[in-house]
Amino acid sequence: MTTQSPLAGGSDTLATPHPGRRGGTEDSGRKRASQPGPIGGGTLNSAKMAAITVLAVVLVAGLAFLYYKTDIGEFRRQVQIASHLRELKDIDTRWESELLRLQNDSASTPLAAAHAAERLRRALQGIEDESSVSRMVSYSFPELKRAFNDKAALMEKYRITAAEARQRLDTALVTAPDINKSLRQALLSNPRQRDRITAFEQSLGAVQAEVLRFNLAPDATQIGRLEARLAALRQAELPASPTLGPLLEKFLATVDQFYKAKLAEQELYNRLQYITAGPRLDTLTSAFHRELEASVQEKELFRTALITYAGVLLILLSHIGAQLRQSYLDIAAANAALKEANEGLERRVAERTQELSQALKSLEESQSMLVQSEKMSSLGQMVAGVAHEINTPLAYVKNSLETVEGQISGMSEALTETEKLLRMLREGADEQTFGRQFALVNSAITRLKGHGAPEDVAKLVQDGQYGITQIAEIVGNLRNFSRLDRKKVDRYNVADGLESTLSIAKHMLKSIDVKKQYNPVPAITCSPSQLNQVFLNLITNAAQATEGRADGEIRLTTRAPDPGHVEIEVADNGKGIPADALPKIFDPFFTTKEVGKGTGLGLSIAYKIVEAHGGRISVDSKAGAGTRFIVRLPVHPPDDTVAVV
Ligand SMILES: Nc1ncnc2c1ncn2[C@@H]1O[C@H](COP(=O)(O)OP(=O)(O)OP(=O)(O)O)[C@@H](O)[C@H]1O
Ligand SMILES: [Mg+2]
Repeated sequence: MTTQSPLAGGSDTLATPHPGRRGGTEDSGRKRASQPGPIGGGTLNSAKMAAITVLAVVLVAGLAFLYYKTDIGEFRRQVQIASHLRELKDIDTRWESELLRLQNDSASTPLAAAHAAERLRRALQGIEDESSVSRMVSYSFPELKRAFNDKAALMEKYRITAAEARQRLDTALVTAPDINKSLRQALLSNPRQRDRITAFEQSLGAVQAEVLRFNLAPDATQIGRLEARLAALRQAELPASPTLGPLLEKFLATVDQFYKAKLAEQELYNRLQYITAGPRLDTLTSAFHRELEASVQEKELFRTALITYAGVLLILLSHIGAQLRQSYLDIAAANAALKEANEGLERRVAERTQELSQALKSLEESQSMLVQSEKMSSLGQMVAGVAHEINTPLAYVKNSLETVEGQISGMSEALTETEKLLRMLREGADEQTFGRQFALVNSAITRLKGHGAPEDVAKLVQDGQYGITQIAEIVGNLRNFSRLDRKKVDRYNVADGLESTLSIAKHMLKSIDVKKQYNPVPAITCSPSQLNQVFLNLITNAAQATEGRADGEIRLTTRAPDPGHVEIEVADNGKGIPADALPKIFDPFFTTKEVGKGTGLGLSIAYKIVEAHGGRISVDSKAGAGTRFIVRLPVHPPDDTVAVV
């Protein structure tokens, strides 16, 4: 199973060094979502709202219906129809009186007739335009219109014919005096024809009288009488007169024309009597008035209903208004309470934030203290190891110096006795004293030789020197590892770094076989002391994992997977990491070691250092089969990424 640092972006990224940064927002989002909405909205559920909407629509529709039903627009149109019907009636009455006048031989008024035609057209058009408001009118109007148009046309013809008949009558009546005048001249020229002239005059007078009667009453009796008088006149003996013949001819022709015109006039008159415009108009007018009356009554009814309905609606609206006002007051009160609560909440949140930021600050302080203590603890372990390393050569040096010290006291005794002997030889002494002194020098030299001096002293000094060289070497390694005397960021050969780390960790690796495979890699830019700390953490963990194994082995490999990166692999055949622990090993304070032995910060710090170098650290481990850490670093880290951890 493999775990990479979050920087690796691998699919199975299990290590999360800073879990505290996650979460929180989702939780608070959920809390926000579960908070009640603003007061006033959402108190009515949607079903209730729908019912109220439907009710409002129905009420407004009812009002609109009643208003429509009481609308006087329709009534106005009905009044218009009534006025046009009255106009028609007036026209018809005028026609009737004109007929009477014409019948009674009065002259017609053509100008009035033209005016009447225009009025008729407008009245009919007016009714037609408004006919849609009345069922009765729209049903009867076509027939009425036809009747009125027919009557207007006949009236026009009748006027012309009557005028013609009158003109013929006038001509005939004008001709009659000329005949009389001609008869008087004939009598003067020939008095003997008096009787004939008188008879002729009577016959002519009778025709004239019948013509006038026929003009007033052109009925069948009158026709018969006129025709009889005319026949009598035609048969009467004509008095001798040069002018009478043509005048009589003219008179008879004119009377004949009058007779025909009058008959035509009479026929038109009779046809006019059969035109049903008047009765139709009366029937329609009275039916329409009934309809109008019913409509007025209905409107009155709807008006009453509208007033009642509007009153009820007003009461309802006042009630709703009162309720709304109450709701508004409630909402205002609730909002004020909410505002107060919010302010309290904000105060509490501010206090809490203050507390939390203080807690965070102290956490950060304690974390940095812990990191520091981890460093101190690593340092302590390192110092203990180094002290142990130094102890062995130090023991040689001490031993040699002690031995040399013992030799030096023997030498000084031999030297003192020898000096005494030399003084005796120079100054002179008795043989016995001289012999005794010689024996003392001899025994001192013998003792000295018995202790191995002076050859051993040289050897001991050499041994001491060797021990001191070793101590100097260890101190040198220590300085090399810590690099306190060098630049913080430098070019660095990872193999050298591993070597210096191994020399520092030597005391832990005594029973472990360290195998190295340093493939050539380019020097990288980094903080060497920090990377040495990473390697020391990894090598220490590996050494601790193989503790107790006779065949413990650590493999250190360097390689350049591409020109821009180097990889350092630290593998061991130790106890491995169980799958459930693997995702947590980079977490700060995660340790499986017994209390006091591990702080659980080693890998967390290593992770941070590698991250700060723009690299990544990954692990591959199987419980019981060993562990492999791979540190991948860029040859040139991005600017400013090498931060001090
Ligand atoms: N090479 C390894 N083999 C087996 N387990 C390991 C190895 N490296 C790390 N671990 C596991 O990861 C844990 C965390 O390691 P880390 O170095 O962070 O802390 P630690 O070694 O327990 O304590 P510290 O390093 O502070 O002394 C270890 O306790 C151990 O369980
Ligand atoms: Mg460790």
